[in-house]
Amino acid sequence: MPKKILIATSTLGIDYGRLNEHMKELEPVADWFHVDIMDGNFVPNLSIGPMVVERMETEKPLDCHLMALRPHLYLEALAKAGAYSITIHAEASLHLSNDVDKIRALGCRAAVSISPGTPIEKIAKVLPKLDMVLVMSVEPGFGGQKFMPEVLEKVRWLRAHYPNLDIQVDGGINDETAPLAVEAGANVLVVGSYLVKAADPGEALKRLKRAAGL
Ligand code: DX5
Ligand code: ZN
Repeated sequence: MPKKILIATSTLGIDYGRLNEHMKELEPVADWFHVDIMDGNFVPNLSIGPMVVERMETEKPLDCHLMALRPHLYLEALAKAGAYSITIHAEASLHLSNDVDKIRALGCRAAVSISPGTPIEKIAKVLPKLDMVLVMSVEPGFGGQKFMPEVLEKVRWLRAHYPNLDIQVDGGINDETAPLAVEAGANVLVVGSYLVKAADPGEALKRLKRAAGL
């Protein structure tokens, strides 16, 4: 039985000046909100931190993508701020296995992300205890970048070996690339600019779903 496809709508491009109003508008096109947290070190961009996550008023699960060095420093604050799921980067964590255990102990779903150049071997040891793997399809740091189809090989391998794992793809997802990600075995699609910048997000989502056969 194939896993249900979920849309994780990215908050990176939202209007933070009217945070909750804009999130309310996007709720119909979001199974989860994908909250991009950037530290200006691991990635060359700064976004928001746990204090802003705490102010998000939504019924939708908050899927927090932590693009930060030494992620262990922020786990507790993020869990307290209401994170449903916390994703840390394999390249940024000092003790990946410990950090994954800590996320679990805080009551959140645990996920690890790999950037486009990072092989699956890097997360081999923690894979069996993860709820989700995030395969980045752009270099982390900015929205609106072009999808890198070569990362789909990693998605295919993961799906073949871990049929029940949630596999998320993030970066450059639109009505042309979503079908490729789904075909490779991804079941959680992060969608940023394609939805958030659309004149009619509802129509854009319908187009994407139709293209991906959903
Ligand atoms: C990039 C972020 C993504 C980004 C997706 O570092 O992790 O979540 O916001 O945006 P789009 O869909 O525009 O590539
Ligand atoms: Zn992200």
